[in-house]
Amino acid sequence: MKKKLLSALLSAAMVATLLVGCGGAGAAAPAATEEAPAATEEAAPAEDTAAEAEAEAPADASGAGKKVAVAMPTQSSERWINDGANMKSQLEALGYEVDLQYAEDDVQMQVSQIENMIAAGADCLVIAAIDSDALVNVEAQAKEAGIPVIAYDRLLMNTDAVSYYATFDNKGVGTKIGEYIKEHAGGEGLDAVKAAGESMTIEFLMGSPDDNNALMLYNGLMEVLQPYLDDGTLVCKSGRTSFEDTCILRWSQETAQQNCENYLTGFYADEKLDICATAFDGFAYGCKAALEGAGYKVGEDWPLITGQDAELMATKNIIAGSQTMSIYKDTRLLADKCVTMVQAVLEGAEPEINDTEQYNNGKLVVPSYLCTPVAVDKDNYKEIIVDGGYYTEEQLAD
Ligand code: BGC
Repeated sequence: MKKKLLSALLSAAMVATLLVGCGGAGAAAPAATEEAPAATEEAAPAEDTAAEAEAEAPADASGAGKKVAVAMPTQSSERWINDGANMKSQLEALGYEVDLQYAEDDVQMQVSQIENMIAAGADCLVIAAIDSDALVNVEAQAKEAGIPVIAYDRLLMNTDAVSYYATFDNKGVGTKIGEYIKEHAGGEGLDAVKAAGESMTIEFLMGSPDDNNALMLYNGLMEVLQPYLDDGTLVCKSGRTSFEDTCILRWSQETAQQNCENYLTGFYADEKLDICATAFDGFAYGCKAALEGAGYKVGEDWPLITGQDAELMATKNIIAGSQTMSIYKDTRLLADKCVTMVQAVLEGAEPEINDTEQYNNGKLVVPSYLCTPVAVDKDNYKEIIVDGGYYTEEQLAD
């Protein structure tokens, strides 16, 4: 923390040369991270869900004979492995045949996978897009073939082929991260920092510009934090606070680490970085590596670090103190809501919808179900995550 008036005034040009922005990562898929646990390790929630779903499955499983194709973005992040496993097990428990495919953050690969799914006679497509705008043609093909499309977690943009959208309250994710910072920064929150006439330094690492969720998160976050940036309680020494300047293509952990390293060497040689406002657990891992490299120590000068997804590794890091919080998204619930949408389009059932306003994809407002994200930290992870059956104490202790 430092007294006001010390806001950094280094030029934007200098920043530009130091940082890899949205376009900088190219189309390369983020490498699987060292910290990302192996697929089998975090399959537990999915298995629990499978067991539950099986128990609930009707004797005459209604999906018998129908094929549901599920296109997922990547296995490099744990959450999507859980999402895929949950979808597969819940659909299979209802008697559907499931074709689950991951495209490893390669847009063209996802396009080909969906083309193949259509050719193979899928009855319904569930898509978590890599680039939400890049699937317009293949979605049109699905529509022409009479195959309903459901958007999973990420909105499918600029298409009228999508019937429903199952997701989390994406702006709410940003608001919750912002509120967490507001209430916890400096120990007693930003209002206390302000009342003491002090300030805190902050840097932002935001999501992929081709993912509608990323901008919504940013907007929710800034709704809470902008007033503190405006009045100098929060000081972003790099000057990079806009979405354009802070977004990271394909949610790349490597780029996040590189950006954080560049922030630290470029702007924080004489003053500590107090807050890493990141939009994803993968970014929090990147910041952790950068901070360790720069000599920061947990329990001493370690910043407040935010994340999203409450991955197993992130939850372990929260317990160890090297990440402060994350946003828990129960992927079992999301899969459950999405499955009701599959049943709706294939069997004429009524899906549960709770938002018919927020998700305009450029062609239509997509009827959506928004699950509620929850902020987790060391004080409530047991209650939310362990008691909620998402991870066991044993998994967290490993
Ligand atoms: C999801 C987040 C996830 C991010 C990176 C977003 O679309 O909503 O939960 O952290 O993608 O995978």
